[in-house]
Amino acid sequence: MGTKTITAPFVLLYCLLSAVVSAISFSKIQLPGNASGPEALAFELGTDQHFFTGIADGRILKYQGPSVGFIDFGFAAPNRSKSVCDGTSLANMNPTCGRPVGMALHHKTKRLYVCDAFFGFGVLGPEGGPVTILSTTADGEPYRFCNGVDVHQPTENVYFTDASAVYDIRQFKTAASVNDSTGRLLKYDVENKRVTVLLRNLSYPGGVAVDEEEKFVLVSEFFGNRTRKIQLRGNKPQESDIVNSWPMPDNIKKARPGVDDFWIAAARIDRRTRSSLLPIGERINASGHLVKTVNLKQWYGNILVSEVQEFDRKLYIASQFVDFVGVYEH
Ligand SMILES: *[C@@H]1O[C@H](CO)[C@@H](O)[C@H](O)[C@H]1NC(C)=O
Ligand SMILES: *[C@@H]1O[C@H](CO)[C@@H](O)[C@H](O)[C@H]1NC(C)=O
Ligand SMILES: *[C@@H]1O[C@H](CO)[C@@H](O)[C@H](O)[C@H]1NC(C)=O
Ligand SMILES: *[C@@H]1O[C@H](CO)[C@@H](O)[C@H](O)[C@H]1NC(C)=O
Ligand SMILES: *[C@@H]1O[C@H](CO)[C@@H](O)[C@H](O)[C@H]1NC(C)=O
Ligand SMILES: *[C@@H]1O[C@H](CO)[C@@H](O)[C@H](O)[C@H]1NC(C)=O
Repeated sequence: MGTKTITAPFVLLYCLLSAVVSAISFSKIQLPGNASGPEALAFELGTDQHFFTGIADGRILKYQGPSVGFIDFGFAAPNRSKSVCDGTSLANMNPTCGRPVGMALHHKTKRLYVCDAFFGFGVLGPEGGPVTILSTTADGEPYRFCNGVDVHQPTENVYFTDASAVYDIRQFKTAASVNDSTGRLLKYDVENKRVTVLLRNLSYPGGVAVDEEEKFVLVSEFFGNRTRKIQLRGNKPQESDIVNSWPMPDNIKKARPGVDDFWIAAARIDRRTRSSLLPIGERINASGHLVKTVNLKQWYGNILVSEVQEFDRKLYIASQFVDFVGVYEH
């Protein structure tokens, strides 16, 4: 009788814990061949997990579900040679092969807006192929690292970032060592096809997301360890609240169409080592209130993730440092 009264609570606790543990699962969608480094994802609504991603060898791949897998969809480097580029992960090949990073799909027209770190800001139609470059410079200053993209679905206006006006993607370490703060927030107006600079002097802006009503954008500053909310007023954006202060925030994605909640890929400091960083996904609402944190250490260790995106109740995770797309279910 004594043992029963002692074990019962433990049995209950065990059941509760295993229910929590079994509710979380993680799987990998392996990239083909020697492909690696998915930086961002763009999903097609109304499909069974079809998405686009840009990889280290300069290709934009499209995933068409488990039975088809990945197909080559597009590229931004005008002279990209498949035999020279496919499968490479060498940073020195980037200027030849391209490096697509940020991307966002305009659902109505199926136009995919893309930032290529070397070839600038462009767009791809539903048939794919070479990216049509729309802009490589704003206010006379070339983009050095076109990085994060989001499209406002009702208007098709596109918001994107140039992480630095000085350092390209290969010069990340130098940019970090000088705490580069020359990044810009830009807007592409689909009506007049013009790009305007909304904000300058940003601290390595990696990600951007616009709200449903186009009243504000969230912009992450990777070196500044913060995500800011910037009120849009015509072409004169207002300086802004800091809505999140986790280190090294990267891409920001709306959690669901019609809902102004956002997922930010970021990091937290490992308490044991005090210096290393562990990858996390953070869901915030439009006022920056933290809704949920997902700790990705179990699957990524100290590897940083660049994007956490929700689709059909699962989280899809991109990282420049791995050869798969993570799928987290909870
Ligand atoms: C991957 O790279 C290795 C080494 O360059 C090469 O031998 C191999 O054929 C590549 N595999 C594919 C599937 O491209
Ligand atoms: C692509 O090739 C053409 C013709 O050889 C050359 O003029 C051009 O500079 C090349 N562009 C790039 C980005 O390498
Ligand atoms: C912002 O950057 C510009 C150059 O793009 C520079 O002239 C200006 O001093 C900077 N402003 C601040 C507040 O740092
Ligand atoms: C951002 O966070 C990293 C990691 O904790 C730290 O090394 C760096 O100094 C921070 N940068 C700023 C501007 O506070
Ligand atoms: C780096 O730059 C950011 C933004 O300009 C600034 O807030 C921060 O204090 C700087 N950090 C260091 C360590 O200089
Ligand atoms: C965000 O969540 C907080 C706490 O629940 C709430 O007070 C706030 O109104 C929410 N903001 C928005 C814009 O929904």
